[in-house]
Amino acid sequence: MNEMRFEGRVAIVTGAGGGLGRAYATALAQRGAKVLVNDLGGDFQGQGTDAGYAAQSAQAIRDLGGIAEANSDTVATPEGARAIVADAMARWGQVDILVNNAGIVSGAGSLDTITDEQWANDLAVSASGTFYLCRELWKPMQERDYGRIVNVASGSWFGMGSGVPYPAAKGAVWAMTRALASATTAQGRNIRINAIMPIASSRMTVLMGEAIDSIMRRDFPPSAVAPVVALLAHETAPCNGEMFSVGGGGFARVFAGVSPGYRATDKHWTPEDAREHFDEAMCTNGFFIPSHSMEESAVYTSDVPWEAFEAFYS
Ligand code: NAI
Repeated sequence: MNEMRFEGRVAIVTGAGGGLGRAYATALAQRGAKVLVNDLGGDFQGQGTDAGYAAQSAQAIRDLGGIAEANSDTVATPEGARAIVADAMARWGQVDILVNNAGIVSGAGSLDTITDEQWANDLAVSASGTFYLCRELWKPMQERDYGRIVNVASGSWFGMGSGVPYPAAKGAVWAMTRALASATTAQGRNIRINAIMPIASSRMTVLMGEAIDSIMRRDFPPSAVAPVVALLAHETAPCNGEMFSVGGGGFARVFAGVSPGYRATDKHWTPEDAREHFDEAMCTNGFFIPSHSMEESAVYTSDVPWEAFEAFYS
C-alpha cells in the first residue's frame, strides 16, 4: 500500500496545544508536513491564555523528528486569524492544509441559564474561528488551486440537551463546510473541504462525568481520530463537502438527506392535506442527498434555471 506522505506540504492545525489537535498535528508532522501548531492556551471554557501550550506541543513534535513551530494567536478574531496565516506564510511561504480544530464549551446547561457571553464565546471560537481562517486562506488556496481543509464539528449537533451554544456553533461549522465545498466543486477547484465529528477522550470529556470519561479514556484515544484527518488532509482526499463521525478506530459518513416525501398536485393545499400525508413526508426510504440547495429545489420543480445557478454558486 502507498504510504500517505505530506513532504512539501504546510499545515496549520488550530487548537493543537493538547487533546485532539495535538494528535492531528503530530500525525501530519510524522508523515512529513511542516506544521504550525496554533493554540491560545487557556481552559476548555475559553478562560485565560497560555503561549506555553502551543510551544510544548511543537517541541514534542520536533523531539519526534518532525517540523513544527508554535503560534499562540486566537482564531476567534479576524486579526488573530490573519496573524496565524501570516505566521505560516512567513515561515514556509504557503499553506496547503488547514485543520480548524480549536473549540471551547463555555455554555453547557439549561437554556435559561446560558449567558449572552457564553453564547457569543462558543460561536466566536468554533464558528467564527473556522470562518475567519477559511476566509484568510480562500484567495491563496484559489490562486494555487490547491487546499485541503478539515473542519471539526461535533456529534452534539444531533442534540445535547438544552445547552445549545456549542452544538449551534458546530452546526455552523457543518453548514460552512457544505457551502464552501459546493463553491469549490462548482468552480472545479482542487480545494476540498470536509468535516469530522470526533469522539475522543480529552479534557473536554471530563465535563461529561466519570462514568462517561472513563470509557472515553479506555476506548477513544485522540490518536484514533488522526488517520481520518490525515486522509482528508492528503492530496488524495477522496471527497468534498462530506462529514464523518470518527472515533475509537472507526469512521462513518454523516449526512443530511431529503426523503421522497409527498407532493400535492394542487399548490393550494391545506393543513389537513399536510396532516394526512405526514407519514409519507417522514418516510426515509429512497432518500437522496442534495449536493447543493438548488438540487433540493429541483425536487419541487422541473424548471430550475441551472445557468443562473452556476453563475451564483461559483
Ligand atoms: P481541548 O480543549 O483539549 O482542545 C481544544 C483546543 O483549542 C485547546 O487546546 C484550546 O486551548 C484551543 N483553543 C480554544 N480557544 C482557542 C482560540 N480562540 N484560539 C486558538 N486555540 C483555541 O479539547 P478536544 O476534545 O481536544 O477538542 C478538540 C476539538 O474537537 C474541539 O473543536 C472540540 O469541540 C471538538 N470535539 C471534541 C470531541 C471529543 O470527543 N473530545 C467531540 C466533538 C468535538
